Amino acid sequence: MSARRIAYRHTIEYEVVNTSNLFHPQNWALLSAGRIEDARRFVVVDGNVEKHHSAAIREYFAYHHVEAKIVVFPGGEENKTLDHYLTIAHELDAFPIHRRDEPIIAIGGGVLTDLVGYVAASHRRGVPYVKVPTTLMGYVDASIGIKTGINFNGNKNRLGAFHAPHMVLLDKSFLKTLPHRHILNGVCEIVKLAVIKDPLLFQMLETHGAQSVEAHFQDEQGGVILDRAIQGMLEELETNLFEEELARKVDFGHTFSYGLETRHETHLLHGEAVLLDILISTLIARRRNLLSDEETDRIFRLTDALGFELDASILDPRLLWASLTERTYHRNGLQRVPMPRSIGDCVFLNDVRADEIESAVKTLEDRIGIKHEII
Ligand SMILES: NC(=O)c1ccc[n+]([C@@H]2O[C@H](COP(=O)([O-])OP(=O)(O)OC[C@H]3O[C@@H](n4cnc5c(N)ncnc54)[C@H](O)[C@@H]3O)[C@@H](O)[C@H]2O)c1
Repeated sequence: MSARRIAYRHTIEYEVVNTSNLFHPQNWALLSAGRIEDARRFVVVDGNVEKHHSAAIREYFAYHHVEAKIVVFPGGEENKTLDHYLTIAHELDAFPIHRRDEPIIAIGGGVLTDLVGYVAASHRRGVPYVKVPTTLMGYVDASIGIKTGINFNGNKNRLGAFHAPHMVLLDKSFLKTLPHRHILNGVCEIVKLAVIKDPLLFQMLETHGAQSVEAHFQDEQGGVILDRAIQGMLEELETNLFEEELARKVDFGHTFSYGLETRHETHLLHGEAVLLDILISTLIARRRNLLSDEETDRIFRLTDALGFELDASILDPRLLWASLTERTYHRNGLQRVPMPRSIGDCVFLNDVRADEIESAVKTLEDRIGIKHEII
């Protein structure tokens, strides 16, 4: 037998750019990632974003003499499906673009950028794309990494690929029209980062978080919080873009949430499931003396102050255990559960037990109550 070993190194580079007035004709950011002369762009826009920016988007491309095919996509987790993937793939096939210098443009929330990213990853085995997040979840999390995907066979993100965007364009003014519930949904990912790796971000949230939530992060402090959260996220991603290291701080809040959001897809948002997971994990960490009483109380006080209305009634310990078991496959055989050690530091546990989860659920039920209604 003879063998030949192939090794090919590939550098991933993409820019995360802060911008404003994205559709102003003098703002070139949206076109800067590809060629502009005699060019075409395949653009997918979230339906709720289109409602507010329909004319501006069309005028922008017309002004630059770029032939744009604009496809409107309905946001929402229920649309992150193979059917919608195929619809977008068909639309793209009917509007040929140059393989290298006419990037697809994805404007929307995490559902849209994940799904369109997956189309970009698979069309001709990979074409460039630009992400423009319009939800807070997209802004601080989904858009700035390289994961793409769709839900499949009852499982979240079961089909997908790592496919880096050419560029991520951050314009926080999109958040002005985002419903309050979706602002809070994105805040859950900021709380995650604060608890697991950034005590200063935690303090910022304590001091200004509620006010920034009310202002949809258009206030100055809101901008500082967003920048800090993105910086923290990028620090974690940059050294582990392809998740070769499976023990990841950014998976804090993403162990038990997987089962919750899968079972309760119709009424529980991703961030809401993550926050419930954060609180369960906080209570497990308290029982193991990784967190003090005071630190535990600070985490609960912060969630109160930010205005979350939580309901523990969906916290079935067997579901949470099944979720941990599923995540153990995802993490290649070890639990690798990120847990806070003090606020701003992290350890990884491989020995979380079913009885600890059950006890954390009981305590959480006592602390936040069972409302018998969806959150
Ligand atoms: N790829 C990643 O690394 C990553 C990370 C985190 C989350 N995600 C994924 O992100 C998804 C959730 O993203 P999401 O919360 O943005 O959901 P979403 O894309 O469904 O958007 C939420 C809602 O907001 C609406 N919307 C979007 N922008 C708006 C705006 N500016 N004004 C008014 N309404 C607007 C949408 O139409 C939708 O109804 C999940 O599927 C999750 O798996 C991916």
